[in-house]
Amino acid sequence: MKALITSGGHGTRLRPITHTQNKHLIPIANKPMLHYAIEAIAGAGIKDIGIVTNAKNRDVETAIGTGKEFGVKITYIPQESPLGLAHVVKISHDFLKDEPFVFYLGDNMLVGGVKRFIDEFKKLHSNCHLTLSKVKDPERFGVPELRDGRIVSIEEKPKHPKSDFAVAGIYIYDACIFEAVNHIKPSPRGELEISDAHQYLLDKGYAITYSEITGWWKDTGKPYDLLEANRLVLENQETRIEGEVDDDSVITGKVVIGKGTKIKNSVLRGPCIIGKDCTIKDSYIGPFTSIYDDCLVKKSEVEFSIILKHCKIEDVGIRLEESLLGNDVQIVSAEKKPRTNRFMLGDQSRVEVV
Ligand code: DAU
Repeated sequence: MKALITSGGHGTRLRPITHTQNKHLIPIANKPMLHYAIEAIAGAGIKDIGIVTNAKNRDVETAIGTGKEFGVKITYIPQESPLGLAHVVKISHDFLKDEPFVFYLGDNMLVGGVKRFIDEFKKLHSNCHLTLSKVKDPERFGVPELRDGRIVSIEEKPKHPKSDFAVAGIYIYDACIFEAVNHIKPSPRGELEISDAHQYLLDKGYAITYSEITGWWKDTGKPYDLLEANRLVLENQETRIEGEVDDDSVITGKVVIGKGTKIKNSVLRGPCIIGKDCTIKDSYIGPFTSIYDDCLVKKSEVEFSIILKHCKIEDVGIRLEESLLGNDVQIVSAEKKPRTNRFMLGDQSRVEVV
């Protein structure tokens, strides 16, 4: 069996971070999001993975490489423009051939791997096996209508959802999906929708089965989803301290500190992770915080946040919470007169002040 992972798309809901960085490479607990998808697939024993990328750049290929470090072989499949998930499947036919495959959306994260779904697909002799998760906001997703334990219809982002389930971004198909993606027409938003392909299969009488995801699953579409995914991954980490912690610092809970990092006169309350070559001085780092490599946090407090590479947070009089900082961001105290708040924000940035 092969697998297909997405890493293209628009990433518009995560701007401005995605102006300069592919959303699938944003670190969750200091590891690129795409690693979790590859590890889930590799964990099911699948060795041959296609990753669909945005054809305009090679960022994903450069960051992820051949797959050797995951024990798999990765083939990159460029998509000229984001024409929809069914389009992703369509352009990958040559790579997938006509064997069953797992289709995994690279911005989805789940606990427990995918083998259990593959086993169900085989056991039930399905043409298409979907994964469903109960959500509070089904109108953001593909939504199934269920009757007597069977899926009878599927709609993409319906105004009036017929259930409180989302179709999660982990699907298992046999070759009939190619018939579907070749027959459907673009939706009003101009995309070949995967939900329309599923509806096509239902209309033609193909066997669509499903598993309910009982553990956590996240579509990291919006900034708060990233913070939540980060929180959930951190909750399961174990303590590992490779940097230096001085005697004036207090570390509690599950904390990871990378090589070359120095913690001085600070309080770190886990679960949290600090990358390599950072300095945390006279500061408080609270639960559910990820700070990536080469950052400086001095005389400041950070909690429930994701901070990317080379950031500087210095002498900030308020606690940063529920925040997402991109690479090379600086939040520092005002030195020059007049002593006022000064912002230098790129397009589509957002600052909330109290
Ligand atoms: O996460 C589950 C949901 O994913 C499903 O419930 C929906 O039925 C499904 O349409 C999809 O909805 P999203 O609005 O979340 O899809 P999004 O545009 O965010 O794209 C999902 C992934 O596929 C993401 O990794 C980006 C990538 N992508 C997307 C498109 C449209 C591509 O690689 N190429 C594309 O053309």
